[in-house]
Amino acid sequence: MTVELPTSWRSTLPYLSEPMPPDLTPESAGGTGVGVNLPMELVRQSVLEREYWQIPAEVLDAYRQFRPTPMWRATGFERAIGARVPVYMKYEGGNISGSHKLNTALAQAYYYKKAGVKELVTGTGAGQWGTAMAAACALFGLRCRVFMVESSLRRKPYRGVLMRMLGAEIHSSPSGLTNVSGKRADGVGNSLALAIGEAVEYATTHDGVAFCIGSGETYSILHQSVIGIESQAQLAELDAQVDTVVGAVGAGSNFGGIALPFHAEARATGAQPPMLVAAESSTAPKLTRGVYAYDKTDATGSGPLEAMYTIGSDYPIPDAHSAGLRFHGAAKIISAMRHTGDLAATAVTQQEALDAGRLLTRHEAVLPAPESGHALAAAAKLATSGADGMRSERGVLVCVSGHGYLDLAAYEQLLNEELGDEAPSEQALLSAVSGLKPVGQGAGPLLVGGRR
Ligand SMILES: Cc1ncc(COP(=O)(O)O)c(C=O)c1O
Repeated sequence: MTVELPTSWRSTLPYLSEPMPPDLTPESAGGTGVGVNLPMELVRQSVLEREYWQIPAEVLDAYRQFRPTPMWRATGFERAIGARVPVYMKYEGGNISGSHKLNTALAQAYYYKKAGVKELVTGTGAGQWGTAMAAACALFGLRCRVFMVESSLRRKPYRGVLMRMLGAEIHSSPSGLTNVSGKRADGVGNSLALAIGEAVEYATTHDGVAFCIGSGETYSILHQSVIGIESQAQLAELDAQVDTVVGAVGAGSNFGGIALPFHAEARATGAQPPMLVAAESSTAPKLTRGVYAYDKTDATGSGPLEAMYTIGSDYPIPDAHSAGLRFHGAAKIISAMRHTGDLAATAVTQQEALDAGRLLTRHEAVLPAPESGHALAAAAKLATSGADGMRSERGVLVCVSGHGYLDLAAYEQLLNEELGDEAPSEQALLSAVSGLKPVGQGAGPLLVGGRR
C-alpha cells in the first residue's frame, strides 16, 4: 500500500484548550481581524471550528504534481548524531518553489482567482514564499509582484531569477516605491516586516490587486496540514510511532502543518499527543524569550493587532542566513497553543543549524534550507541528550521544510568558519516590547519568555 494524497485539510481549531484571543482593531477591541478583501473561504477557514475542509479539485490536481512528499527513517543521520531513538524526515523541498510554501500558495491563488483578483502582491524574506507565490500565480493565470528583503536578494540573486522565470515582478525592499519604505535612496535593508508592509501598501493603492501572506495566517497553517496528515499515514505504513514532532518556526506554517494534525488526532481520539517542538532562530526568539502581547504583523501596522509571542515588531533583528525565520512574532494559533502549554519551543543558533544541515547533506544526501537546519539541530538534540528539559523516548519526526540549493553562500560561510551569531540582549528585548499590551484581562505585566 502506498500513502495517498489527502483530500481534506485538517484544522485543530475545534480542539484548542482555549479559544484564540480576538484581534484588536484600532476602533474596537474585538472582531476576527481577518482582512475584508480576503476571499470568504479563507475567512471561514480562519474562524470556524470545523475540523475537515475539502481541498478543491483544482488545488488537488496541482498538489498531485509533487505530493505525497517523501518521508523516511534517517538512519544515516541517526548514526551521525548518535541517536537513542529513530528519527523520521518529512521532505517538503521537492517542488519548483523548493519548500512547503507551495502548499498554501496554490490554495490562496485558487481562492483569490475565484474572487476575481487579477494580481497578487506579497513580501518575502528568504524568497521561498515569493517563489511559491510566483509558481502558484503562473499556474492559475494571475500576475504576481514580490517585495523581497534587500539583504536576502543580494545574497541569493538566483531566487530573484527563479521568480522572474515564473513570470513575477520583483522589487528589492526597501524599494522606494511605497511610502512605508520611506523613499529610501540607499535601498539597503533587512526587514521582513518592511517588505510585507510595502506589499500591503501596494495592494491597497492599486485596483484588482490583493495582498497575500504565506505563514502566520490560520488558513495557511490549515493548508499546510497536508504535511502532518501524510506523515501520520506514512508512519502508520511503517508501523512506526513517534513521541516528538519538530519543525522550524518563522511564523509557524511548516511547524503547524506537520504538528497540528497530531494535536487534532490526539484530541479526537483521547490519546496522549506527542511533544510538539517549535525550533526557532536564536536571532528572533519570540517563543522562548518573547512576550505574549498584541503586536503588529507588518511595518505599516495597518492591520489589526494580533495576540502573539513577539520580540517586538520594531526590534531590529540582526542579519542571519535563515531569513525565513527572521520574523518578530509567531502565528496567533501557534502562540495560543504555546500559551496553554500545548506546544514547546527551543532556540537554535545559525552555527548549530548549518552544522545540522551539513550532517544531513553528508549522511542522507539531502541539502536542507538553513531554516530547516534549525529543525534538524533541535531534532538531533531531542534524539540524543535533550534540549531545554525535553527528550524523546520513542522517536522524532522532523520537517525538512525546504532545500538549500540557493543557500550555498550560507554553507560556504560555514565551511570557511565565517559564521557569526547574534542573539538579542535582554535590554534590547525589554525595550522593544515595552509599549505592547499584554494578552488577556488582567494579564499583568509583560513577562519575557513567560507562559502559563
Ligand atoms: C525553507 C523554509 N522553512 C521554514 C520557513 C519558516 O516559515 P514558516 O514558519 O512559515 O514555516 C521558511 C520561511 O521562509 C522557509 O523558507
